[in-house]
Amino acid sequence: MTTKVAICGANGRMGTQIIDEIRKLGNLELVAGFDVADEEKVLPGGVAVSHASKLSEVLAKTKPDVLIDFTTAAAATENVCIAAASGINLVVGTTGFSEEQLRRMHTAIADGKVAAVISPNYSLGVNLFWRLLTIAAEVLQDYDVEIIEAHHNQKKDAPSGTALAALDALKSTLGKDEVVYGRKGLALRGKEIGVHAIRAGDIIGDHTVLFAGPGERLEIKHQAHSRTALATGAVKAAGWVANARPGIYTMADVLNEQA
Ligand SMILES: NC(=O)c1ccc[n+]([C@@H]2O[C@H](COP(=O)([O-])OP(=O)(O)OC[C@H]3O[C@@H](n4cnc5c(N)ncnc54)[C@H](O)[C@@H]3O)[C@@H](O)[C@H]2O)c1
Repeated sequence: MTTKVAICGANGRMGTQIIDEIRKLGNLELVAGFDVADEEKVLPGGVAVSHASKLSEVLAKTKPDVLIDFTTAAAATENVCIAAASGINLVVGTTGFSEEQLRRMHTAIADGKVAAVISPNYSLGVNLFWRLLTIAAEVLQDYDVEIIEAHHNQKKDAPSGTALAALDALKSTLGKDEVVYGRKGLALRGKEIGVHAIRAGDIIGDHTVLFAGPGERLEIKHQAHSRTALATGAVKAAGWVANARPGIYTMADVLNEQA
């Protein structure tokens, strides 16, 4: 049976691309879209983009197996709570959650006994990038480490969720806790991991981790040229999570089971 999906943030940059990918790949059926525009829009193929205030009502009518959310942290928290309470599995791509928002979503997912993939990045390349960082950090234990990310000038959260996931991986591999976000004035380097966020133009997403030691440096870099890899990954995750057991998963779980 075809997996039925709904998407929150249907008019956004990622939402639009994901809807395109669903149409191109043809293995999922889009049954509903949600956004916050005043006017309801009808997508090619006849699926309506409803106002987010009608989320419960339209989900009950269209019965998707999976809700994909690429909105804002505050909106996604509400959307996840509503979908989980309706027994709908989830793919959450939104980033920038507070601890409290994450706690609310995790509780709702557990209470609703649904399956959710939550990842700050759905691209295959970035998921490999995170793995490569830990390999490099295991070898280059004493090198200075800096994370540099760049995104378009409309991005709300900084540093990006992808950079924060890289930071977590590096902190646990290196056993370090100290982090410095940007530097200004007297800012002698210590043992910290440095994190830097650039916001400019229409950059889709660049992430570099630089390891520098005596006489050399190694840079591990990922650059997104379009949103295609992100959207393809989110669609793959939706197909996977439709049949997953209740719980919270990452994109690594999706990719490992498909390897
Ligand atoms: N995980 C990933 O791979 C990945 C990739 C790119 C972006 N992101 C994240 O996804 C999110 C969206 O990114 P974007 O570039 O598409 O942003 P965007 O601003 O282009 O799109 C967000 C859309 O959500 C809509 N929206 C706001 N409140 C809503 C609600 N309550 N219900 C439904 N829709 C609502 C907005 O109107 C907008 O159309 C951001 O948090 C971004 O950091 C994640």
